[in-house]
Amino acid sequence: MIIKASTPLYALLGHPVSHSLSPILQNGWIAEHGFEGVYVALDVDPAHFEASIDGLFHAGLRGANVTIPFKERAAAKACALSQNAMITGSVNCLSPAQNGFLGDSTDGAGFIADLDFRAKGWREKTGHVVIFGAGGAARAILVALHHAGCSHIHLVNRNYERGLEAARLIVGETIHVWSLAENDRALLGASLVINATSAGLNDQNALALDVSKTAEDCLVYDTVYAPRETSLLKDARHSNRQALDGLGMLVGQGALAFEIWFGIRPDLASGLTRLEASLSS
Ligand code: ATR
Repeated sequence: MIIKASTPLYALLGHPVSHSLSPILQNGWIAEHGFEGVYVALDVDPAHFEASIDGLFHAGLRGANVTIPFKERAAAKACALSQNAMITGSVNCLSPAQNGFLGDSTDGAGFIADLDFRAKGWREKTGHVVIFGAGGAARAILVALHHAGCSHIHLVNRNYERGLEAARLIVGETIHVWSLAENDRALLGASLVINATSAGLNDQNALALDVSKTAEDCLVYDTVYAPRETSLLKDARHSNRQALDGLGMLVGQGALAFEIWFGIRPDLASGLTRLEASLSS
Protein backbone atom coordinates (compact mmCIF):
# COMPACT_ATOMS: atom_id res chain seq x y z
CA MET A 1 0.00 0.00 0.00
CA ILE A 2 1.24 3.47 -0.80
CA ILE A 3 0.87 5.84 2.16
CA LYS A 4 -0.69 9.03 0.86
CA ALA A 5 -1.74 12.33 2.42
CA SER A 6 -5.24 10.93 2.74
CA THR A 7 -4.25 7.63 4.40
CA PRO A 8 -6.16 7.24 7.70
CA LEU A 9 -4.08 6.75 10.83
CA TYR A 10 -4.73 4.15 13.57
CA ALA A 11 -2.58 3.71 16.63
CA LEU A 12 -1.75 1.77 19.72
CA LEU A 13 -1.40 4.06 22.75
CA GLY A 14 0.65 2.70 25.62
CA HIS A 15 3.86 2.98 27.60
CA PRO A 16 6.06 1.21 26.69
CA VAL A 17 4.97 -0.07 23.26
CA SER A 18 8.20 -0.92 21.46
CA HIS A 19 7.63 -4.69 21.67
CA SER A 20 3.96 -4.57 20.70
CA LEU A 21 2.71 -7.03 18.09
CA SER A 22 -0.42 -4.97 17.33
CA PRO A 23 1.03 -3.09 14.32
CA ILE A 24 1.90 -6.41 12.64
CA LEU A 25 -1.57 -7.73 13.41
CA GLN A 26 -3.58 -4.69 12.33
CA ASN A 27 -1.51 -3.69 9.28
CA GLY A 28 -1.68 -7.31 8.11
CA TRP A 29 -5.47 -7.28 8.21
CA ILE A 30 -5.65 -3.81 6.62
CA ALA A 31 -3.56 -5.15 3.71
CA GLU A 32 -5.56 -8.40 3.49
CA HIS A 33 -8.78 -6.43 3.07
CA GLY A 34 -7.26 -3.83 0.75
CA PHE A 35 -8.33 -1.04 3.11
CA GLU A 36 -6.65 2.35 3.30
CA GLY A 37 -4.92 2.88 6.59
CA VAL A 38 -1.76 2.61 8.57
CA TYR A 39 -1.45 1.46 12.20
CA VAL A 40 1.44 2.66 14.36
CA ALA A 41 2.47 2.28 18.00
CA LEU A 42 2.77 5.50 19.99
CA ASP A 43 4.68 5.56 23.29
CA VAL A 44 2.62 8.13 25.19
CA ASP A 45 4.15 10.05 28.09
CA PRO A 46 2.01 9.13 31.13
CA ALA A 47 2.19 12.76 32.29
CA HIS A 48 0.33 13.81 29.12
CA PHE A 49 -2.06 10.97 28.27
CA GLU A 50 -5.28 13.02 28.36
CA ALA A 51 -3.71 15.86 26.35
CA SER A 52 -2.47 13.31 23.81
CA ILE A 53 -5.98 11.91 23.43
CA ASP A 54 -7.36 15.39 22.79
CA GLY A 55 -4.60 16.12 20.30
CA LEU A 56 -5.01 12.83 18.44
CA PHE A 57 -8.78 13.31 18.23
CA HIS A 58 -8.40 16.79 16.74
CA ALA A 59 -5.66 15.54 14.39
CA GLY A 60 -8.13 13.02 12.97
CA LEU A 61 -6.92 9.70 14.40
CA ARG A 62 -9.39 7.10 13.07
CA GLY A 63 -9.06 4.55 15.82
CA ALA A 64 -6.82 3.41 18.63
CA ASN A 65 -6.04 0.52 20.88
CA VAL A 66 -5.11 1.36 24.43
CA THR A 67 -2.79 -0.76 26.51
CA ILE A 68 -0.87 -0.72 29.81
CA PRO A 69 -0.95 1.55 31.77
CA PHE A 70 -3.77 3.62 30.25
CA LYS A 71 -6.89 1.43 30.08
CA GLU A 72 -8.59 2.98 33.12
CA ARG A 73 -7.60 6.52 32.16
CA ALA A 74 -8.95 5.94 28.66
CA ALA A 75 -12.29 4.92 30.20
CA ALA A 76 -12.37 8.18 32.16
CA LYS A 77 -11.41 10.20 29.09
CA ALA A 78 -13.79 8.66 26.54
CA CYS A 79 -16.87 10.72 25.62
CA ALA A 80 -19.07 7.62 25.92
CA LEU A 81 -18.55 3.99 26.87
CA SER A 82 -19.83 0.66 25.60
CA GLN A 83 -21.54 -1.55 28.15
CA ASN A 84 -18.45 -3.77 28.52
CA ALA A 85 -16.20 -0.77 29.06
CA MET A 86 -18.61 0.64 31.61
CA ILE A 87 -18.84 -2.61 33.58
CA THR A 88 -15.09 -3.25 33.63
CA GLY A 89 -14.04 0.41 33.91
CA SER A 90 -11.45 -0.33 31.24
CA VAL A 91 -11.06 0.76 27.61
CA ASN A 92 -8.78 -0.91 25.08
CA CYS A 93 -10.38 0.45 21.91
CA LEU A 94 -11.22 4.01 20.89
CA SER A 95 -13.17 5.12 17.87
CA PRO A 96 -13.92 8.73 16.93
CA ALA A 97 -17.37 10.27 17.39
CA GLN A 98 -18.62 13.84 17.13
CA ASN A 99 -17.15 15.17 20.37
CA GLY A 100 -14.40 12.75 21.25
CA PHE A 101 -13.54 9.07 21.27
CA LEU A 102 -16.02 6.33 22.13
CA GLY A 103 -14.47 3.79 24.49
CA ASP A 104 -14.94 0.06 24.15
CA SER A 105 -13.44 -3.00 25.75
CA THR A 106 -12.80 -5.94 23.45
CA ASP A 107 -10.57 -7.92 25.85
CA GLY A 108 -13.30 -10.16 27.23
CA ALA A 109 -15.03 -10.79 23.92
CA GLY A 110 -11.62 -11.30 22.32
CA PHE A 111 -10.87 -14.00 24.88
CA ILE A 112 -14.16 -15.74 24.08
CA ALA A 113 -13.53 -15.38 20.32
CA ASP A 114 -10.18 -17.09 20.82
CA LEU A 115 -11.71 -19.95 22.79
CA ASP A 116 -14.31 -20.40 20.04
CA PHE A 117 -11.50 -20.43 17.48
CA ARG A 118 -8.77 -22.50 19.18
CA ALA A 119 -10.68 -24.53 21.77
CA LYS A 120 -13.88 -25.60 20.07
CA GLY A 121 -15.97 -27.48 22.61
CA TRP A 122 -14.78 -25.26 25.46
CA ARG A 123 -18.38 -24.48 26.37
CA GLU A 124 -18.67 -28.03 27.67
CA LYS A 125 -15.87 -27.19 30.11
CA THR A 126 -17.55 -24.37 31.95
CA GLY A 127 -18.84 -26.32 34.94
CA HIS A 128 -16.02 -25.22 37.25
CA VAL A 129 -14.05 -22.18 36.12
CA VAL A 130 -11.06 -20.77 38.00
CA ILE A 131 -9.71 -17.33 37.11
CA PHE A 132 -6.43 -16.17 38.61
CA GLY A 133 -6.16 -12.38 38.92
CA ALA A 134 -8.30 -9.35 39.65
CA GLY A 135 -6.77 -6.72 37.37
CA GLY A 136 -8.14 -5.44 34.08
CA ALA A 137 -7.57 -8.67 32.14
CA ALA A 138 -9.12 -10.83 34.86
CA ARG A 139 -12.15 -8.55 35.20
CA ALA A 140 -12.76 -8.56 31.45
CA ILE A 141 -12.54 -12.36 31.35
CA LEU A 142 -14.76 -12.71 34.42
CA VAL A 143 -17.50 -10.57 32.88
CA ALA A 144 -17.19 -12.29 29.49
CA LEU A 145 -17.40 -15.79 30.96
CA HIS A 146 -20.37 -14.77 33.06
CA HIS A 147 -22.10 -13.42 29.93
CA ALA A 148 -21.21 -16.66 28.16
CA GLY A 149 -23.24 -18.51 30.76
CA CYS A 150 -20.60 -19.75 33.24
CA SER A 151 -22.19 -19.93 36.65
CA HIS A 152 -19.58 -21.63 38.85
CA ILE A 153 -16.70 -19.21 38.79
CA HIS A 154 -13.86 -19.13 41.32
CA LEU A 155 -11.59 -16.11 41.43
CA VAL A 156 -8.16 -16.42 43.03
CA ASN A 157 -6.03 -13.38 43.69
CA ARG A 158 -2.87 -12.56 45.63
CA ASN A 159 -4.62 -9.54 47.11
CA TYR A 160 -7.82 -11.09 48.47
CA GLU A 161 -9.63 -7.75 48.96
CA ARG A 162 -9.01 -6.86 45.33
CA GLY A 163 -10.43 -10.26 44.40
CA LEU A 164 -13.60 -9.49 46.34
CA GLU A 165 -13.85 -6.14 44.59
CA ALA A 166 -13.59 -7.78 41.15
CA ALA A 167 -16.25 -10.35 42.09
CA ARG A 168 -18.68 -7.52 42.83
CA LEU A 169 -18.78 -6.78 39.08
CA ILE A 170 -21.06 -9.78 38.74
CA VAL A 171 -24.45 -8.99 40.11
CA GLY A 172 -26.86 -11.75 41.08
CA GLU A 173 -24.33 -14.57 40.98
CA THR A 174 -21.96 -15.87 43.64
CA ILE A 175 -18.32 -15.75 42.61
CA HIS A 176 -16.16 -17.79 45.00
CA VAL A 177 -13.15 -15.67 45.96
CA TRP A 178 -9.93 -17.21 47.26
CA SER A 179 -6.52 -15.95 48.27
CA LEU A 180 -3.56 -17.32 46.33
CA ALA A 181 -2.58 -19.52 49.29
CA GLU A 182 -5.94 -21.32 48.96
CA ASN A 183 -5.62 -22.03 45.24
CA ASP A 184 -5.58 -25.83 45.73
CA ARG A 185 -9.15 -25.73 46.99
CA ALA A 186 -10.29 -23.63 44.03
CA LEU A 187 -8.50 -25.89 41.55
CA LEU A 188 -9.96 -29.15 42.84
CA GLY A 189 -11.94 -30.62 39.92
CA ALA A 190 -11.66 -27.45 37.78
CA SER A 191 -12.68 -27.77 34.14
CA LEU A 192 -11.32 -24.43 32.89
CA VAL A 193 -8.40 -22.54 34.49
CA ILE A 194 -7.25 -19.13 33.31
CA ASN A 195 -4.15 -17.28 34.45
CA ALA A 196 -5.11 -13.62 34.00
CA THR A 197 -2.30 -12.31 36.21
CA SER A 198 1.03 -11.08 34.90
CA ALA A 199 2.78 -13.84 36.87
CA GLY A 200 4.93 -15.88 34.50
CA LEU A 201 5.57 -12.97 32.14
CA ASN A 202 9.19 -13.19 30.94
CA ASP A 203 9.51 -16.32 33.08
CA GLN A 204 9.28 -14.20 36.24
CA ASN A 205 7.25 -15.04 39.38
CA ALA A 206 5.32 -17.93 37.80
CA LEU A 207 2.32 -19.13 39.79
CA ALA A 208 3.13 -22.41 41.53
CA LEU A 209 -0.08 -24.34 40.89
CA ASP A 210 -0.79 -28.03 41.25
CA VAL A 211 -2.49 -28.60 37.91
CA SER A 212 -3.05 -32.27 38.72
CA LYS A 213 -5.83 -31.13 41.10
CA THR A 214 -7.97 -30.13 38.10
CA ALA A 215 -10.30 -32.42 36.16
CA GLU A 216 -8.47 -34.66 33.69
CA ASP A 217 -10.01 -32.93 30.68
CA CYS A 218 -9.33 -29.44 32.07
CA LEU A 219 -8.37 -26.65 29.70
CA VAL A 220 -5.59 -24.42 31.07
CA TYR A 221 -5.32 -20.98 29.46
CA ASP A 222 -2.49 -18.56 30.20
CA THR A 223 -3.11 -14.98 29.05
CA VAL A 224 0.67 -14.50 29.17
CA TYR A 225 2.27 -15.05 25.74
CA ALA A 226 5.86 -14.07 26.42
CA PRO A 227 7.10 -16.73 26.62
CA ARG A 228 4.42 -18.63 24.74
CA GLU A 229 5.12 -21.77 26.75
CA THR A 230 4.94 -20.54 30.35
CA SER A 231 5.80 -22.87 33.20
CA LEU A 232 2.05 -23.11 33.92
CA LEU A 233 1.41 -24.39 30.40
CA LYS A 234 4.38 -26.77 30.65
CA ASP A 235 2.89 -28.17 33.87
CA ALA A 236 -0.52 -28.44 32.21
CA ARG A 237 0.86 -30.39 29.26
CA HIS A 238 2.91 -32.53 31.62
CA SER A 239 -0.36 -33.43 33.40
CA ASN A 240 -2.02 -34.13 30.01
CA ARG A 241 -4.29 -31.11 30.27
CA GLN A 242 -5.16 -29.04 27.21
CA ALA A 243 -3.00 -25.88 27.26
CA LEU A 244 -3.49 -22.58 25.41
CA ASP A 245 -1.24 -19.51 25.42
CA GLY A 246 -2.41 -15.89 25.37
CA LEU A 247 -1.40 -15.03 21.82
CA GLY A 248 -4.89 -15.89 20.63
CA MET A 249 -6.50 -13.46 23.08
CA LEU A 250 -4.29 -10.71 21.67
CA VAL A 251 -5.51 -11.67 18.20
CA GLY A 252 -9.14 -11.89 19.37
CA GLN A 253 -9.24 -8.48 21.03
CA GLY A 254 -7.46 -6.99 18.01
CA ALA A 255 -9.94 -8.58 15.61
CA LEU A 256 -12.89 -7.07 17.47
CA ALA A 257 -11.21 -3.66 17.49
CA PHE A 258 -10.63 -3.97 13.72
CA GLU A 259 -14.32 -4.82 13.32
CA ILE A 260 -15.31 -1.67 15.26
CA TRP A 261 -13.17 0.52 12.98
CA PHE A 262 -13.72 -1.20 9.61
CA GLY A 263 -17.06 -2.93 10.05
CA ILE A 264 -15.81 -6.41 9.22
CA ARG A 265 -14.42 -9.21 11.41
CA PRO A 266 -10.94 -10.14 10.13
CA ASP A 267 -9.57 -13.65 9.93
CA LEU A 268 -8.27 -14.84 13.32
CA ALA A 269 -6.21 -17.61 11.71
CA SER A 270 -4.23 -15.27 9.47
CA GLY A 271 -3.65 -12.88 12.38
CA LEU A 272 -2.35 -15.67 14.56
CA THR A 273 -0.12 -17.01 11.79
CA ARG A 274 1.38 -13.56 11.23
CA LEU A 275 2.16 -13.12 14.93
CA GLU A 276 3.63 -16.61 15.20
CA ALA A 277 5.85 -15.88 12.21
CA SER A 278 7.01 -12.57 13.65
CA LEU A 279 7.81 -14.18 17.01
CA SER A 280 9.86 -16.92 15.41
CA SER A 281 11.82 -14.65 13.05
P1 ATR B 1 -3.91 -6.06 34.08
O1 ATR B 1 -4.80 -4.85 33.93
O2 ATR B 1 -3.03 -6.30 32.90
O3 ATR B 1 -4.67 -7.28 34.47
P2 ATR B 1 -3.08 -5.30 36.75
O4 ATR B 1 -4.30 -4.52 36.98
O5 ATR B 1 -1.75 -4.74 37.18
O6 ATR B 1 -2.86 -5.70 35.24
O7 ATR B 1 -3.28 -6.73 37.47
C1 ATR B 1 -2.24 -7.65 37.57
C2 ATR B 1 -2.78 -8.93 38.20
O8 ATR B 1 -1.68 -9.85 38.34
C3 ATR B 1 -3.33 -8.74 39.62
O9 ATR B 1 -4.34 -9.69 39.85
C4 ATR B 1 -2.09 -9.05 40.49
O10 ATR B 1 -2.40 -9.45 41.79
P3 ATR B 1 -2.67 -8.35 42.97
O11 ATR B 1 -4.06 -7.81 42.72
O12 ATR B 1 -2.56 -9.14 44.19
O13 ATR B 1 -1.61 -7.31 42.78
C5 ATR B 1 -1.52 -10.19 39.71
N1 ATR B 1 -0.11 -10.40 39.94
C6 ATR B 1 0.92 -9.65 39.50
N2 ATR B 1 2.10 -10.20 39.89
C7 ATR B 1 1.80 -11.33 40.58
C8 ATR B 1 2.57 -12.33 41.22
N3 ATR B 1 3.90 -12.28 41.23
N4 ATR B 1 1.93 -13.36 41.83
C9 ATR B 1 0.58 -13.42 41.82
N5 ATR B 1 -0.21 -12.49 41.23
C10 ATR B 1 0.39 -11.46 40.61
